[in-house]
Amino acid sequence: MLSQNELKQNVAQAAVDYVLPLLGPDVIVGIGSGSTADLFIDALAVHKQKFRGTVSSSERSTRRLEGHGITVFDLNDVTQVPVYVDGADEIDAGLSMIKGGGGALTREKIVASVADQFVCIVDESKFVDCLGAFALPVEVIPMARESVARRLRALGGEPQLREGFVTDNGCVILDVAGLRIRQPVELEAIINNIPGVVTCGLFAISGATVALMSTQDGVVTLKPKA
Ligand code: 5RP
Repeated sequence: MLSQNELKQNVAQAAVDYVLPLLGPDVIVGIGSGSTADLFIDALAVHKQKFRGTVSSSERSTRRLEGHGITVFDLNDVTQVPVYVDGADEIDAGLSMIKGGGGALTREKIVASVADQFVCIVDESKFVDCLGAFALPVEVIPMARESVARRLRALGGEPQLREGFVTDNGCVILDVAGLRIRQPVELEAIINNIPGVVTCGLFAISGATVALMSTQDGVVTLKPKA
């Protein structure tokens, strides 16, 4: 029986195998955040001579990349990102995701939006029929914490401030429990429209292009089902 960490290591290696044919001397790779992304960074570092550098979605990933001697570019200096690789807290059959367990959701969504494809790397525990068992992270401008929380309660959620946590953007996170998210695209748009919300951790309007999911029997490739 493989441990969750071994499953993550397997999918990180599978992601490197997926990305290898896309690499070249001018290529910039988009890098996500979290423990699975960390393992991807470590596995990618073996091939660091084969691409130009990266754009990173968090200070944590930037430190890890630079620790491997991999160049991290400012996204403002980059026009093309062929592939973005990142984990998720939950993913469904349509490849809509909940992200932001590590609090990096805004930069993750920004870097993903620039990339030609989003490769989501998960172990099988993250695959769900319906998103929402994992409390939905929402990044909020600090002065709007209570007004946004009221709006989220009106949507049926139970927002809780992530105590003692400040994002890389100087904002706070509300983790919203109790949502059974049957229409992720619609809910993402509704939450994004609440004044004071920086980013909602739903990645459904633009989900993953492909998911690599690590199981006890190997890594399987998932394409979005309508
Ligand atoms: C961070 C994220 C991560 O991708 C998500 O939390 C999954 O993390 P892990 O790979 O550690 O399970 O969205 O903001």
